[in-house]
Amino acid sequence: MKISNKHLIMPIKPLVIALGVFAITNNAFAAEETLEQKLGKQLFEDINLSFNRNQSCESCHSLSTIEIPIEGADGNFQMAEQPAPGFVDPSNVLNGTAVSDGSRSRRFGGLNAPSVGYAAFSPAFHWDGDLFIGGQFWNGRASNLVEQAKGPFVNPLEMAMPSEWAVIERLKENRNYIRSFRRIYRINLRSITEGDPRVGEAYEFMATAISAFERTSRFNRFDSKFDFEAAGITQYNASEQRGADLFDDIAECGDCHSTDEIDGEDGPALLTDFSYDNIGTPANTQIPRRPAADPGLQGNPNLAAVHGDASEIKLDEIQGRHKVMSLRNIAMTAPYMHNGVFKSLQEVVHFYNTRDVLPTCTAPADATNPGFAVTCWPQGEFHSTRNTKRMGNLGLTPQDEADLVEYMQTFTDNYPEWGNSNGLSDPNVPIGTPSPFANFPIPDHSN
Ligand code: HEC
Ligand code: HEC
Repeated sequence: MKISNKHLIMPIKPLVIALGVFAITNNAFAAEETLEQKLGKQLFEDINLSFNRNQSCESCHSLSTIEIPIEGADGNFQMAEQPAPGFVDPSNVLNGTAVSDGSRSRRFGGLNAPSVGYAAFSPAFHWDGDLFIGGQFWNGRASNLVEQAKGPFVNPLEMAMPSEWAVIERLKENRNYIRSFRRIYRINLRSITEGDPRVGEAYEFMATAISAFERTSRFNRFDSKFDFEAAGITQYNASEQRGADLFDDIAECGDCHSTDEIDGEDGPALLTDFSYDNIGTPANTQIPRRPAADPGLQGNPNLAAVHGDASEIKLDEIQGRHKVMSLRNIAMTAPYMHNGVFKSLQEVVHFYNTRDVLPTCTAPADATNPGFAVTCWPQGEFHSTRNTKRMGNLGLTPQDEADLVEYMQTFTDNYPEWGNSNGLSDPNVPIGTPSPFANFPIPDHSN
């Protein structure tokens, strides 16, 4: 992984204010208990399941914390470990790039890899009578985690295997897979040959195992400061509290990134309502080969199937709507939005606040304009269908913006560690404190 000096000056500075510099020694979070979850982990990490045996799910959704440059009080940058894993592509976080390289080098997709953390909570893609809700991917085209996990192996821009059969052939190379598939799914990988209907069956089991792994507490920790505060165990500092108040009130973030507890009073909040919206995100002209703007929900092939009445779907209105992503661990997952056009949370908040206040960027009329995010914003990729009700001119002061960013840093997991490191201490949540929602059930939306 190369880090160019240019990107060392990435706007990570605010982390230092909120979180300090980390030296967390033990980030092990062993959560896999069942055979199926263990198999899922092995599959998730196995580079042999990609065309050039060089890429796994983990390449773009890292399970580890990574070292990022953080500015110290003296103004110098030093590498320090992130407080929690973000389950995104580390090279994007480090370099500020939006998209990931595929197994076949220099084959890039056009979208930013979202976090797999808490993805298990996204309900199966459906129409609720009013809105399309849930699903996986920025446009929800995979109904659930099992459907999702079948995609990357045979996506030419990702793991690039030529067929499902080719993936099964690779599974057959590994004795542990043969043993585990027999024990868990009662299927003998060895006896499967090309063209056998069991190819599809085994492929489905593979995706099922991965989804079981994604439903473990490794990805769904609920041990952020936000969670401990919600459970009444600790308090926010003054800036975080101001940010929390703004988030649910005048900034209206909570209208989409919901802070309501799921399951009534006792559950954690997911910081999304799983709906789709067009916030007016500008194009990212720095994505290699400049792919066409992604129409989001409009391009989801399953709209009619879940809606029931295709003639009722207002296709033109939903152009450019992308999934409202959860903001859990959001400080770990730069850059932001489906196309990674924003480099920092400061930029994101400033965009929501001033999208319709600052002049439109011209010459160049895109994100490469030197005034981008400071003196101008480019028009959104789908300007005419953008949401004009809840955003664009929030009237926030610079202090308000900083408070919102500070608040979003409380969404970072592993608070018992980071809240007691590097000059911070929280006697209410000592190192080792379990999540207040440790027993909250992780749903299985795959049926
Ligand atoms: C080359 C990088 C890459 C690889 C390899 C990769 N992903 Fe992804 N992942 C992405 C990108 C990019 C998206 C968003 C694509 C989209 O929305 O169309 C994504 C989306 C997802 C999502 C949806 C999250 C959400 O909230 O909507 C999940 C879950 C996921 N990936 C899991 C996996 C699994 C499991 C594997 C291995 C089988 C995998 N990914 C391999 C890049 C990658
Ligand atoms: C009307 C619904 C809505 C409101 C209100 C809203 N958001 Fe969002 N948010 C979205 C959608 C949709 C996306 C994804 C947009 C895209 O990728 O183009 C998003 C993306 C984000 C992301 C990046 C997520 C990622 O994984 O890259 C952040 C951070 C964010 N919002 C913060 C906020 C904050 C802070 C506020 C309040 C100032 C806010 N949002 C208000 C709908 C909303």
